Amino acid sequence: MKTYIVGNWKLNFTVGESSIYLHKLVKSLPSYRNLEVVVAPSTLSLQPLSLQIDRKRIKLAAQNGFYRDYGAFTGEVSFSQLRGLVDYAIIGHSERRYILKEDDKTIQKKVAAAIRNKIRPILCVGEIESERAFGETADTIKDQLLGGLADVSDDDLSKVIIAYEPVWAISSVKGAKLASPSEVAEAIDIIRQTLIETYGAEAAKKITVLFGGSVSPSNAGGYLTIPGVNGLLVGGASLILHEFVDIIEIAKKVQA
Ligand code: 13P
Repeated sequence: MKTYIVGNWKLNFTVGESSIYLHKLVKSLPSYRNLEVVVAPSTLSLQPLSLQIDRKRIKLAAQNGFYRDYGAFTGEVSFSQLRGLVDYAIIGHSERRYILKEDDKTIQKKVAAAIRNKIRPILCVGEIESERAFGETADTIKDQLLGGLADVSDDDLSKVIIAYEPVWAISSVKGAKLASPSEVAEAIDIIRQTLIETYGAEAAKKITVLFGGSVSPSNAGGYLTIPGVNGLLVGGASLILHEFVDIIEIAKKVQA
């Protein structure tokens, strides 16, 4: 199975800065096989960057998209407009769930809209600190996972990528802590088990699962060796070119 290293730039970098970063990233990239390097810049940068990149080396992801393809939805950008520009879209990120108040129903429609437009959704799931403290981690993960996947047909299931991001471990969250490999392993197991119970072992096996939350060059190797983890969703460290390149190098080594 491929390893995925996805950089989520969130609300950072102008179009010009994004272009310069990508230019430098391509120059510093090691040669690799069976590794998918993806960056998710702001929506505004997607069109120019899609013309700049060599898609054999780097792929683009949107950070969001709207679930209707066209119509009177002021300010939205649809997956049909993103079609052809990006290969992936991050959907249901905790910053959209908790700051922008997106619920599971909205996320479910976005996942379906992405697939309908030939874009692979990266569906984010993960508990907040109080849910973990109250022993609700498994229920939260299952609800978000099955909610997000509710409109995905069996045939399309393997197109979906799941990202487990415990909200309390995201670097920009106040008082963020590092998730320990055993905590991550436990959550990945919940995800894998839920997928097996819902879709069967064969289908579940084909689904890519990533981990995200304060990933850095110093912990990437540890997270990548957790069974069932197929890659990383990187926030802060993906903004620092040499750190992102280091993480890609580490992924390459772990695979070898
Ligand atoms: P950090 O790597 O900055 O914790 O962000 C994680 C994240 O939210 C990626 O989507």
